[in-house]
Amino acid sequence: MSGRITVTYPFRDPLDLPRVTILKGPLREAARRSAALITLLTDRVDASVLEAGRSTLRIVANVAVGVDNIDVAAATRCGIMVSNTPDVLTDATADLTWALLLAVARKIVAGDALVRRGGFTRWNFDLLRGVELRGKTLGIIGPGRIGRAVGRRARGFGMIVTYRSRSSRDSLRAFLEASDFISIHCPLTPATRHLIGAAELIRMKPAAILINTARGPIVDERALIEALRRGRIAGAGLDVYEREPRVPAALKRLKNVVLLPHIGSATVETRRCMLKTAVTNVKAALRGNRPPNLVNPETWRPLQ
Ligand code: DGY
Repeated sequence: MSGRITVTYPFRDPLDLPRVTILKGPLREAARRSAALITLLTDRVDASVLEAGRSTLRIVANVAVGVDNIDVAAATRCGIMVSNTPDVLTDATADLTWALLLAVARKIVAGDALVRRGGFTRWNFDLLRGVELRGKTLGIIGPGRIGRAVGRRARGFGMIVTYRSRSSRDSLRAFLEASDFISIHCPLTPATRHLIGAAELIRMKPAAILINTARGPIVDERALIEALRRGRIAGAGLDVYEREPRVPAALKRLKNVVLLPHIGSATVETRRCMLKTAVTNVKAALRGNRPPNLVNPETWRPLQ
């Protein structure tokens, strides 16, 4: 294994890699001098970075399952491998999706705030009435690993689960009309950007609750704020936003949303496994082996 490895973040867990440099300065410069980059979803690995690394860089190992921060087409053109970290974060992200769903359905955050500000003065029959899950339909957009893990958990709550993969916008609208809860688990691609916009929100039931732990730009945030403000849907639970880390003030003012800071996979165990997976991909690439989580297999060629 030879060549410099640059990480964009000073990871707390041991990396078990030789010659690791922590990024200082522009990513483009690091790409020019490194055989491998270990990146986060906040690193924009665009065509200019990849062009700079064309003759040195063998792999960009993203410590995330989503690779929408990387111009994968440009990487492929430059012959640079891109890897991600699937599987290891499936359960953590599915669990957090449920935490959000339950928090919105049962007004958990409002209840906590009420107790803390001394508002729990006596038991009240009508206080913070939420909605039941049993018998309701959970519509899952994106029946991949995480979507299916969310669906499996729904069985324990007695819900009816439906999945929706890629097809026409018309069938999406029919699917939305039939769902009480909608949870998004598809990747962000040009085809899924603003998949949920004003036209889709209007098809949802007024009592519907939308959960997004995938990527912010899949939902048109302005349209969502408007739908929530006007009561066109009942609530939303969001872990991701269109222009992270910016969260619109209008969204923060809404009472029928629960907002989290993109922590879907943030457990001690999963973060460790994500890092380990990225390291495994880097080691494989630098030893001339095929990385197990190669996103652009066209680029793979054994070292001469
Ligand atoms: C991912 O992996 O894509 C998550 O959004 C961050 O862990």
